[in-house]
Amino acid sequence: MPFIKIDDHEIEVDAGRRVLDIATELGIKIPHYCYHQALSSPANCRMCLVEQVGAPKLMPSCATRVFPAPPNRKTTIDGKEYDAVFYTASPVVKEAQESIMEFLLINHPLDCPWCDQAGECRLQDYSYEYGKGHSRYKEEKRTFPKKKLGPNVLLYTNRCIMCTRCIRFCEEITGTDELMVSERGGKAQIDIYSEDKPLDNPLATCVTDICPVGALVSQDFLYKPRVWNYTRKESVCGMCASNCNISVDTKQNLIYRIKPRENQQVNSFWMCDNGRLGYNRWQNDVDRLETPMVRRNGHLEPVSWEEAYDAIKNGLKSFRNTEIAGIASPYSTNEENYLFQKLMANAFKSDQISYATGATWEAWEAKKSPFKISEFKSPNYFGAKDVIGNRHKGEIIEKISKIQVKALYWVGGNLDQRLTDGERDALQKLQFLVVQDVWLSPITEYANVVLPATNYYEKEGTFTNASHILQWVHPVVNLMDDMKPEWLIFIELAKRLGGSLGYTDIKNVTRDMLANTPAYKHIKPADIGSQGIQTRR
Ligand code: SF4
Ligand code: SF4
Ligand code: FES
Repeated sequence: MPFIKIDDHEIEVDAGRRVLDIATELGIKIPHYCYHQALSSPANCRMCLVEQVGAPKLMPSCATRVFPAPPNRKTTIDGKEYDAVFYTASPVVKEAQESIMEFLLINHPLDCPWCDQAGECRLQDYSYEYGKGHSRYKEEKRTFPKKKLGPNVLLYTNRCIMCTRCIRFCEEITGTDELMVSERGGKAQIDIYSEDKPLDNPLATCVTDICPVGALVSQDFLYKPRVWNYTRKESVCGMCASNCNISVDTKQNLIYRIKPRENQQVNSFWMCDNGRLGYNRWQNDVDRLETPMVRRNGHLEPVSWEEAYDAIKNGLKSFRNTEIAGIASPYSTNEENYLFQKLMANAFKSDQISYATGATWEAWEAKKSPFKISEFKSPNYFGAKDVIGNRHKGEIIEKISKIQVKALYWVGGNLDQRLTDGERDALQKLQFLVVQDVWLSPITEYANVVLPATNYYEKEGTFTNASHILQWVHPVVNLMDDMKPEWLIFIELAKRLGGSLGYTDIKNVTRDMLANTPAYKHIKPADIGSQGIQTRR
């Protein structure tokens, strides 16, 4: 193992590691633009230059790897021998950093006051930390018009520093190769190869995350409030069963932006555009259910929670327990499905419970990285299977068709809910139907009682993804006034029906759900952590 020194730190490291990575782990900050952990390192920005003792010139730390030096090439400092010695903030390094910053800014429009990257821009940060504070460049700056590279991404070429991260992302991660450098020298610019092949791959907007300056911006985030005005919360995406890790920027209980959060087991550094932009549908397009409703004279009318609970209690009391069934949801958390199962067992004395599959879409895999978009559009299809057991809703629908089941409690959550003809026929035969859903869906058409459900931006608990990794889900927005968390609905309803579930908070539900689910019984809540836990050993 090479024994090296970086500034005042002495360390033995694995051979072949990059100086920039080692320094970062030691807490030494080396400024850099073109290097990204997930991409190749062309060493073209020169911002990460460091001084290596004995080397004839400064070295790019992103492309300099350490190896054991032969005995005659060791570096001796104060009588101690090293395989290599680096200085990251010596006078010659600082002078180089100032020059690089001056060079990168010669054509920059200095339009920070209206640039969407302001506040999280490396050009701004490094100008302040490593720049000269003035420029000797008096010539006219080159200018280019802004350009739409694809449906979700805009390019402001004037701000580009030609680090080529965006090109390498399309080559090395998605394998879709939409971007290139066109022209040469001072005219060089990022572009798509042809108008027929726009930047529209499923992960396209990730280029705006890795662009270190404000050159590539998300169309969705254009001219929104400044980044320092948001509250940032962490959760996982619920738009499919991949459960990518996300950071959500909110202001006044509205979502303004979703960005991927690193989790090497789940989504690496990336997320798809559907997951990133899907909040718009919930926030702008869906007529959400906000209050409980009871059918009176053929119409669903808003009622209080107490009236809705009483309507369920009275509606179900005439049925034998073998005539009552429940359909759990792949859009619910593991905790909600666990409580729903307990509600069915304790309050309704019914073990007839199954789960719906939810919507599906076309799965997608990046050509050159392990990133996958799951075919299941529901976030917790795999968790529902683990918690409820492998019982599909078809069995229950068949029993309803045969009039063996006469009362049903269906937990929905699917914005793309469709019913088959067989399901419609079956629902018409029911004598009593309770539906818990996020909107007035095709199922609620047949409901006697409707309870408002939450979406994955509002839930608290856990999801299990397509790779069987169980992760925390945190609410990123508050519930609307009359709504309740669904875990609380099940607890309150059980109490009203005389079958208390014995919980007052969600933490104890997670603990018991893990302990009583065969696939999770080896897991404790503290094991889950910020990166989740693999449930299959
Ligand atoms: S657009 Fe951004 S990521 Fe692409 S080369 Fe320019 S600065 Fe780098
Ligand atoms: S792949 Fe799935 S979980 Fe990941 S961001 Fe896209 S929709 Fe969300
Ligand atoms: S980060 Fe090393 S040369 Fe760009």
